[in-house]
Amino acid sequence: MRRSSNIFDISALFMISALCLFIIFKKDLLPRDSVKISTNEQPPPNRNPTRASRFNYPWNPCTPNDSARSIPGFSTLPGHIQNFLYYRHCRQFPMLLDVPDLCGATPEESANVFLLLVIKSSPWNYDRREVLRKTWAKERLQDGVWIRRVFISGVTGSSEEQRKLNKLLWLEQQENQDILQWDFNDSFFNLTLKQVLFLEWMMNNCPRAHFLLNGDDDIFANTDNMVEYLQSLKDNDGDKHLFTGHLIHYVGPIREPGSKYYVPVQVQESNSYPPYCGGGGFLLSGFTATVIYNMSHSIELLPIDDVYMGMCLEKAGLEPASHFGVRTAGLHVPSLTADKYDPCYYREILLVHRFLPHQIFIMWHEIHNPRLKCGKSHNVI
Ligand SMILES: *[C@@H]1O[C@H](CO)[C@@H](O)[C@H](O)[C@H]1NC(C)=O
Ligand SMILES: *[C@@H]1O[C@H](CO)[C@@H](O)[C@H](O)[C@H]1NC(C)=O
Ligand SMILES: *[C@@H]1O[C@H](CO)[C@@H](O)[C@H](O)[C@H]1NC(C)=O
Ligand SMILES: *[C@@H]1O[C@H](CO)[C@@H](O)[C@H](O)[C@H]1NC(C)=O
Repeated sequence: MRRSSNIFDISALFMISALCLFIIFKKDLLPRDSVKISTNEQPPPNRNPTRASRFNYPWNPCTPNDSARSIPGFSTLPGHIQNFLYYRHCRQFPMLLDVPDLCGATPEESANVFLLLVIKSSPWNYDRREVLRKTWAKERLQDGVWIRRVFISGVTGSSEEQRKLNKLLWLEQQENQDILQWDFNDSFFNLTLKQVLFLEWMMNNCPRAHFLLNGDDDIFANTDNMVEYLQSLKDNDGDKHLFTGHLIHYVGPIREPGSKYYVPVQVQESNSYPPYCGGGGFLLSGFTATVIYNMSHSIELLPIDDVYMGMCLEKAGLEPASHFGVRTAGLHVPSLTADKYDPCYYREILLVHRFLPHQIFIMWHEIHNPRLKCGKSHNVI
């Protein structure tokens, strides 16, 4: 009896100590919501390019849907649209390059990523990726929060080119560990597929990143300003809805067969698109990325990727918003004689489409020049 009561005393003492320790340390275990600015100054761990994917999907090559041929007028459609209809249902492709620990060693650690830059890049665009790595997409601690970068890609080119381009991406990956590549044809009409594959990857590997910039590799993004803007959202640290950019509404599918954006009735019957943000670049919260991914399961793929995002938002009852600083349609400088590439116009904006690699390099350096002097006439309109 005596002995067992001793054990009882000891365990009671142990439990009380544990409780005290818990109370002492509890104040450090702040929930994510109350950490407005992630103060974790430790860089996310070094990434290991050889690490296997965290998730391996059972994968069977997707077979074309032969019934597509029975759609009225199918044979009159351009080849790339026929292709789209044959493979519209395919949503799983094996990964050729992955960086499972891009956002941290575990999915939970991705909460340390404040802004994830998700950049659509075709394998050809080596020069664009290189300049982005050195400029606006540089991974860094900005105003106390982490910026991470990832390029998303498919495969392209004839079989010999394809082998070389895959080798190129592999080499870049050894150096930078910043590429996700899936084994699908990286064509314009497969951009929605690329988007959805990225969201699936994010849910598995980077689910708690606070915000994302989703954009093309030919934009100039002022990521310093983006961090400042996102930090200024007082009641949203990524856990509430945000989807903002160059808002487009009251438009519908282009029905002219010559257009790059041609979407025939066989692909979408409705003559209207929901409101959406131009795909050159838009900002969204981690919360909204999750909602869009959830909605995508029940919405058939549409070839125009930015419109597809709008459809997912609409289905979730959420709205895209307009941000004055996002200029995917270009910048309107106030006077015809003014230099369109005067850095003063670019200090205040969030994003402009489109820039060549050398222009990005110059502009990034010029807007950081401490001696840059700008006057009132430099306000963009
Ligand atoms: C194949 O295409 C037909 C015609 O568009 C469509 O009704 C059917 O749902 C498609 N099947 C799959 C698996 O997507
Ligand atoms: C990729 O898709 C485009 C458009 O559908 C097509 O022109 C091209 O031949 C395809 N490339 C390969 C390698 O399948
Ligand atoms: C999309 O990628 C798949 C897989 O490579 C390919 O079969 C299909 O033709 C592509 N679709 C388009 C429209 O290029
Ligand atoms: C998305 O779907 C998952 C699984 O159904 C659910 O647990 C989660 O709450 C959903 N997230 C949002 C933001 O809708």
